[in-house]
Parts: sequence; C-alpha cells; structure tokens
Amino acid sequence: VLDPDLVEFVLAALPPSPARVLEVGAGTGELAGALTTAGYDVLAIDPASETPAVRAVALHELDEPPASFDAALAVVSLHHVNPLVESCRRLGELVRTGGRLVVDEFDVERLDERAARWRLDQRPADHPHIAQDGHNHEPAGIVADLQKHLHPLRRLREALDEWFELEEPVRGPYLHRWDLPPGLRASEVGLIAASRLPETGARMVGTRR
Ligand SMILES: C[S@@+](CC[C@H](N)C(=O)[O-])C[C@H]1O[C@@H](n2cnc3c(N)ncnc32)[C@H](O)[C@@H]1O
Repeated sequence: VLDPDLVEFVLAALPPSPARVLEVGAGTGELAGALTTAGYDVLAIDPASETPAVRAVALHELDEPPASFDAALAVVSLHHVNPLVESCRRLGELVRTGGRLVVDEFDVERLDERAARWRLDQRPADHPHIAQDGHNHEPAGIVADLQKHLHPLRRLREALDEWFELEEPVRGPYLHRWDLPPGLRASEVGLIAASRLPETGARMVGTRR
C-alpha cells in the first residue's frame, strides 16, 4: 500500500506532468503506476524486478539516450546502489540540464540502537522477517550490520553533487515504513518530538547542473 505522505511529497517535488521520469529502484512498480496514472511517462527500473512493468536493470547499466529524462526519482533505493559513483554519473547523464532529482531516503548514519529496538518491538510476533533475519536480533548488531553495508546520506550527497545542485535534506520519520504494520507514523513522529527516536528519514530535491 502506497504511503499517502510519500505520494504527496513526490507529486509536489516532480515537475508538472506530462514529463519523462526515471524511477530508480522501483521495487514492484506501485509508485510508478500511480505516477503513470497521474500523466507521467515513467521508466521504472530495478535489478531485482520480477514484473514486466519494471525493467530489470541496475542504474549504472541502463541504456537510454543522454538527457532524455525530465526528472529522476529514487525512493529508499540509492543507499543500496552499487557502484555508487558510476551509478550517480549515469543518473547525471540521463537527466537533462535543469531536470529534477527527487530523493526519499533512509539515513543509516542516524540509525541508533533505540531506533533499531523500537522497530523490533513494533513487529508482530508472526512477522515473516523475524524468522528470515534470525541471524541478527540484537539492536547493536543490526545497526553495525546496516552501517557496514548501506551508503549514508552524506556519501550519497557527495556522489550526486557533481551532477545535481542539491537542496538541504528535510529530516523526518522513516522507521514506520520499514516492513512494519500500517498506522505507526504518529507514534514515530511523537517519539522524535520527545527526542526519544532519531530522524532516520531524509527527503531532498536537486536540479541537474
Ligand atoms: C528498499 S527497496 C525500495 C523499493 C521501492 N522503491 C519501495 O519504496 O518499496 C530498494 C530497491 O533498490 C533496488 N536496487 C538495488 N541496487 C540497485 C541498482 N544498482 N539500481 C537500481 N535499483 C537498485 C533493490 O533491488 C530494491 O528493490
């Protein structure tokens, strides 16, 4: 189910439709489908795709004409993208000068043990991932493991900066969207306001130089 807050952010940040949009790391293509319905011409890519609606290719291997997109969108995918610098270069080549970059991210650098613990505590006992990622149930281990494997927002900004003029990120909640049952956003926002959880979400827009 699409998060209405995410859809609102994306629609406000994209140039008006019609426009050609590249969605990087599109997963099942649900958001790309909503954007198509809204009048955008969307190419959704994801190397793990199993649906024809999302082209199964990694960003750095995408073969499309240079400057052929008016905007690019990435929802919690850039922190996974490898090789990072080459992928960002490809993104820069594909978006036209003046085109828009819209990024919704999880900043792994801000993840701490409180956040990892809160997330574990919100998962129902029969959550399928509890059995799957049985290798690590300890908050400290989860934080260390993710910080070892994912790019922090700082690194993403450094790699994108050559191509895109980036606005300052807007920090906010993210944990409630991370494989948890719906309805937890307000709790996370309240705990952030009380300084009991870090802001692990970050949203930013950029313009192709
Ligand atoms: C956390 S998922 C997010 C999926 C979707 N955007 C969503 O919000 O549900 C990250 C996605 O990035 C994709 N990904 C990983 N490496 C990638 C790459 N090099 N190029 C494009 N997508 C990639 C993964 O396959 C995965 O589907």
